[in-house]
Amino acid sequence: DLSDSFQEEQGQGGETHQTTQDGGAVLTTSQGVPVADDQNSLKQGARGPTLLEDFHFREKIFHFDHERIPERVVHARGYGAHGYFELTESLSDITRADIFQRVGEKTEAFVRFSTVAGSKGSPDVARDVRGFAVKLYTKEGNWDIVGNNIPVFFIQDAIKFPDLIHAAKPAPDRGFPQAQTAHDNFWDFISLSPESMHMVMWIMSDRTIPRSFRMMEGFGVHTFRLVDADGQSSYVKFHWKPKLGLQSVVWNEAVKLNGADPDFHRRDLWDAIDAGDFPEWELGVQIFDQEFADNFDFDVLDATKIIPEELVPVRIVGRLVLDRQVDNFFATTEQVAFCTQNIVPGIDFTNDPLLQGRNFSYLDTQLKRLGSPNFTHLPVNAPRCPFAHFQQDGHMAMHNPAGRANYEPNSWGPTQGGPREDPARGFTSVAATPDGDKLRIRPESFADHYSQARQFYVSQTPIEQKHMGDALVFELSKVERPDIRSRMLSHLMHIDDGLAGTVASGLGLPLPEKAKAAVSPKTDLPPS
Ligand code: HEM
Repeated sequence: DLSDSFQEEQGQGGETHQTTQDGGAVLTTSQGVPVADDQNSLKQGARGPTLLEDFHFREKIFHFDHERIPERVVHARGYGAHGYFELTESLSDITRADIFQRVGEKTEAFVRFSTVAGSKGSPDVARDVRGFAVKLYTKEGNWDIVGNNIPVFFIQDAIKFPDLIHAAKPAPDRGFPQAQTAHDNFWDFISLSPESMHMVMWIMSDRTIPRSFRMMEGFGVHTFRLVDADGQSSYVKFHWKPKLGLQSVVWNEAVKLNGADPDFHRRDLWDAIDAGDFPEWELGVQIFDQEFADNFDFDVLDATKIIPEELVPVRIVGRLVLDRQVDNFFATTEQVAFCTQNIVPGIDFTNDPLLQGRNFSYLDTQLKRLGSPNFTHLPVNAPRCPFAHFQQDGHMAMHNPAGRANYEPNSWGPTQGGPREDPARGFTSVAATPDGDKLRIRPESFADHYSQARQFYVSQTPIEQKHMGDALVFELSKVERPDIRSRMLSHLMHIDDGLAGTVASGLGLPLPEKAKAAVSPKTDLPPS
């Protein structure tokens, strides 16, 4: 009962003063000085002026003035929770990663779900890709799988990312539209980027209007490597499969929800955990070797392609459970810093040019967003395993090197000299052979932009195909320029004649000539 811990009195001007009784917490300044009156600034006489000497007033307003930090340049709106990963099948024969060794062992995790294009205050059920970022606090360092709820991406090379995002975010002159993708700039960029056609099929599907974060799949998207104790590597794709299955709303519901409850998804996650109904996913891996990669119809380094599950089945190796809400949204969900370059011994990158670019981008943006190179000192970002290094100083340094030495090699011995290298346990990169000359070029093996788009479309049920057709008609009907609509139709004709016809008639447009394709799409692929 709160009334036990304070006494309530009215001040001279009618304002409410709640003063502590014995045992209650005392309000202080950030320097710890007890505050006697938090309702009135210090004035010369009851009617002022206010005095510069009022350090409590100045400190309080100063701190408030600096509460905001820049929102994430993408994925600004998100919601997170704590939980754990539990290994159900050991991968010790394939990787030395500590997290994959001992069945039944739990590893602490933090997950943040997000939309991509909207601002921090945008509605939850916008048609958009969802981020699915997982931080795993392993015994050999933090490993982040910074994925999405769609297994492919719009672009093949990270150098196009600023253009993609500029086109998807509000137009520079008018500052709208905010959260939806339905506008000229987005479809202009997409229609000029045939590599995005596979992703377009996925974003026009119901996957971009999920019923709940708890009912979404997650994907690491890129091909990564698993590396064993002898340095031998396999390729791997990571999948999160929701225990509740995949579920979406329909567009009509999405539009209403965005008006009635813009917090629909975050409320759902909070309430589920509150009720003890803990959201859960299985971790699946598709593991394949160089021979498979060499014989695959597409390039495994191309993030616009999947590895079909009938070719490489998904093997379930663990479960992720979210069982604890954050204590404070800003401290945790806003300040968490995921980064694709956070990998651990036993995991490695491939040369996927999208992944290589991401590895630069996240750390760079987080310095700006969080304001200090010491953001790993924040509890949500700090490793849970022992860590020691010679990084020091900078804004907000919480743990500088202890002892005499802040450099190595040094002569100060084990107690004073600080941490040393560990060639046996330390991270080593796979010794991959470079491909050839230094070039600014896209490989031919990345050139088939339509086959897997078709494969995805034909794998959908008739009602799902109808939703995709409706979504394309709705989105493209918001595009004012006829040449952009037509250009989109010219791509759809490579994907599926029926779909192209439906969208053309929905828009009241004739079918144009097919887009020029860099390579002929394959028509004989089985549905994915
Ligand atoms: C943020 C996923 C491509 C740059 C995020 C987040 C996710 C994500 C899930 C939100 C992390 C969080 O919750 O805090 C992906 C996926 C991609 C992709 C799956 C493609 C496979 C890219 C590319 C770039 C990029 C190509 C840049 C070259 C960023 C940046 C942020 C971000 C700058 C904001 C990070 C922050 O402020 O902490 N991305 N992304 N992303 N992404 Fe990506």
